[in-house]
Amino acid sequence: MARARKRGRGFVATALLVAGLAGLASTPASRPVWAADSVPATGPASASGKILAPTPPMGWISWSQFAEEIDEKLIVETIDAMVANGMRDAGYVYVNIDDGWQRYKGSRAKHPLEVDPVKFPHGMKYLADYAHSKGMKFGIYSGPGDITCAGYTGSGGHETEDAAMFASWGVDHLKYDSCCSHKDAPQAVVEEVFRSMSKALVASKRDIVLNACHCGWVNTWEWAASVGASYWRIGQDISDDFDYPGNREKYYFDVLDLIDHGVGLEKYAGPGHWNDYDMMIVGLNGKSPYLVGAGASNVEYRTHFSMWAMLDSPLLEGADVRHLDADSLATLTNREVIALNQDPLGQQATRVRDDGLIQVFAKPLADGSWAVALLNRGSATADVTISPRKDMQLEWDRYAVRDLWKHKNMGPYDIPFTTEVISHEAKILRLTHAPLKKSAKADAAEQKERAP
Ligand code: GLA
Repeated sequence: MARARKRGRGFVATALLVAGLAGLASTPASRPVWAADSVPATGPASASGKILAPTPPMGWISWSQFAEEIDEKLIVETIDAMVANGMRDAGYVYVNIDDGWQRYKGSRAKHPLEVDPVKFPHGMKYLADYAHSKGMKFGIYSGPGDITCAGYTGSGGHETEDAAMFASWGVDHLKYDSCCSHKDAPQAVVEEVFRSMSKALVASKRDIVLNACHCGWVNTWEWAASVGASYWRIGQDISDDFDYPGNREKYYFDVLDLIDHGVGLEKYAGPGHWNDYDMMIVGLNGKSPYLVGAGASNVEYRTHFSMWAMLDSPLLEGADVRHLDADSLATLTNREVIALNQDPLGQQATRVRDDGLIQVFAKPLADGSWAVALLNRGSATADVTISPRKDMQLEWDRYAVRDLWKHKNMGPYDIPFTTEVISHEAKILRLTHAPLKKSAKADAAEQKERAP
């Protein structure tokens, strides 16, 4: 939350597991015990009764690159860029405005919540309509405090009128941020502020995804779905770093911190309710004027993106998508990796092996195959071996392997699979059962044996 702006201008910155969907999966007879527990009791309500985020939301959000320097032109150009560069067609449909769209800074008791007429001369409905005309969705930001994190008028005590206003604009997504206003509030109070905005959104009669942004405090994952949130932050703000020693500015989390922070939380995620590992930093390259961080290499950004996909985090890109470099765009639009994130089974990956610098994460997919990430946190290249039997308790006699970054099929194998993983890389594999076909003779012999 409260952080210094990189350029010194100080500011306060920064369940349902649907039976039908589960039924899509081939019988998870080989699913390990840990996966079977992953069914939260309740999920968020919605105006239409639909599940609003059956898969993790994908899109773009303004904060990391632009902070308060946002305006209508930027949003229109961002929408156009996402259509032109293929992001929309790869699934990135949300265009979300973060803090800084409001007209007034200061207390809601003194100011109404209005759109800044200089930044957004045609208002928000104009932008929502524009997004919708391009097959995209539109998101806005507010918070339950008197003021937001960046000091603008908040929605505290005005939930019903604000939700109705957002609905009248055609808003599809609300990032509701209590990180600053309720930092030290007890859990019951934080729960109540989200419950009351959720009720107001449902009463607005428009389906609006609610993102509970509480920076991972008071175990948000345990209760956020039951008070109406489709996803919730599991940790403090991400900085533009893969592995910074400690917490930058004693606050920020880097990519590895967030991955570590989410270990064990997979049981809270599923269709309609997700753990949020925070906005993606792919392609910021240490150059955001506002977000702190040294940037990361292409391999590290690819690992970050791959792990967010494996962990079923919302995929909200934070860089300027009008000027993405070719590597970043290729990373963000790898459809085979996106498919892991958008898999209808909605099973967040579990860390199945922790050998210190080498870690293995795995998740079952709706078609019966498995996604596996071999993460090398160390500074040296390593040979990593994965055994479906030992690591995922799969009784597979033979299996095929596909490398989702090389787009290459390997195998089948009936022994453990070994591959080289370079420093800070996550090798992303899709494993499929490839049973040995019995010969006709063996079949006949078996049948004879079974005959009475
Ligand atoms: C908090 C949130 C950020 C961003 C800013 C806006 O710090 O964690 O994601 O929304 O507020 O002020």
